[in-house]
Amino acid sequence: MQEPLEKQKETFDIDDIRALVRTDSKAVDQLIVTRLSSDVALINELGRYIVNSGGKRLRPLLVLLAARACNYPGPHHIELAAVIEFIHTATLLHDDVVDASDLRRGKQTANAIWGNEAAVLVGDFLYSRSFEMMVGVNSMRVMEILSTTTNTIAEGEVLQLLNCHDADTTEKRYRQVIEFKTAKLFEASARLGAVLGKQPEEVENALALYGLHLGTAFQLIDDALDYGASGGDIGKNIGDDLAEGKPTLPLIHAMRHGTEEQAQMIRRSIEQGGLDQVERVLGAIESTNAIAYTSRAAQREADLAIEALTELPSSRYRDALYGLAEFSVNRSY
Ligand code: IPE
Ligand code: IPE
Ligand code: MG
Ligand code: MG
Repeated sequence: MQEPLEKQKETFDIDDIRALVRTDSKAVDQLIVTRLSSDVALINELGRYIVNSGGKRLRPLLVLLAARACNYPGPHHIELAAVIEFIHTATLLHDDVVDASDLRRGKQTANAIWGNEAAVLVGDFLYSRSFEMMVGVNSMRVMEILSTTTNTIAEGEVLQLLNCHDADTTEKRYRQVIEFKTAKLFEASARLGAVLGKQPEEVENALALYGLHLGTAFQLIDDALDYGASGGDIGKNIGDDLAEGKPTLPLIHAMRHGTEEQAQMIRRSIEQGGLDQVERVLGAIESTNAIAYTSRAAQREADLAIEALTELPSSRYRDALYGLAEFSVNRSY
C-alpha cells in the first residue's frame, strides 16, 4: 500500500531529491564540462576552476525535476539545465567582482586569483556560450524566456547597485532586487520544464510561480546566512553584505525595530560600508530577532511555492519539488 502523501513529502530530503534525477544530472555535469571548452587557454583554466569548485547545482536540478514532473521524456532538459547553470555561473563571476568578494564555494574567487578583468570577460564567455547552446534547442519560446530572464537579472544587479549605501531602502525595493537578481532565474528554470513538457498554460504558470517563490525564499535565506545565521560553513565570507553597505532584510528589520541609537548606528554602517561596527550590528540583529523575521519571510515564500504545486499532477517529482522548497528555507549552506 502507498504511504500517505504528506508522509512521503516530509521524508524527501535533498539527497533523495538528487537521487531521483541522478542519471540526468550526470549528463548535465558532462555537458557542462564539454561545452566549457575553448581554444583560449585562460577561459578553460578559469572556467574549469569555478565549475569544479562545486556549487549546489540547484537550478539545473529544478529544470530536471520540473521537466520530469511534466512527463517530458527528453533530451532537451539536459541542455537547458546546463544553460541555466552557465548563466548562473556567469552571474557569480560578475557578482564577485561587483561585491569585491574573495571567497566562493570555499575557495578563492576567480577575481581574487586572475583579477577583475579576466573574471568579467570569462563571465561574458559563459553568458554567450549559454546563448549558443539554447539556440540548439530550436525553440523561440525558450529563447524568449531565457533572454528576458537574463535581461531582468542584469536589471536586478543594477537596482541593487542603486540601493547600496542607501539606508532608506524599503523592504519593497529590497524585494524587487531579490526577485530580479535571483528569483527570476529559478522561475525560468521551473517554467522551462513545463514548456518542454508542452503543458497547458495553468500548469506552466503554476510551475513558474513555484520557481519565483522558491527563488525568493532562497535569497532571503542567503541574506540571513550572510550574518552567520546557520553557524555552518557557507563557503563565502560572512559579513560581505554589511561590508558592501547592502541594505538586506536583516538590516532593514533591525533598523525598523531597534532603538533609535541602534537605527542610527545601522544607518551609518550602511552609508559607510565596512565592518567597523560589525559587533554592534550583530547585537542589533540579535535583539530585534531580525534573523527569525527573515526566516519567517522565507518560510512564507516556500509555503506559497508549495501551494502552487497543487496544479501539478501528483508524482514523485512533484514531491521532490515540495522537498526542494523546504530545503531552500532549512539549508545551512
Ligand atoms: C549563490 O547561489 C547566489 C545567490 C543567488 C544567493 P547558490 O547558493 O546557488 O550558489 P552555488 O552555485 O551553490 O555556489
Ligand atoms: C547573488 O547575489 C548574485 C546573483 C544572483 C547575480 P549575492 O551577492 O547576494 O550572492 P552571494 O552572497 O555573493 O552568493
Ligand atoms: Mg555577492
Ligand atoms: Mg549574499
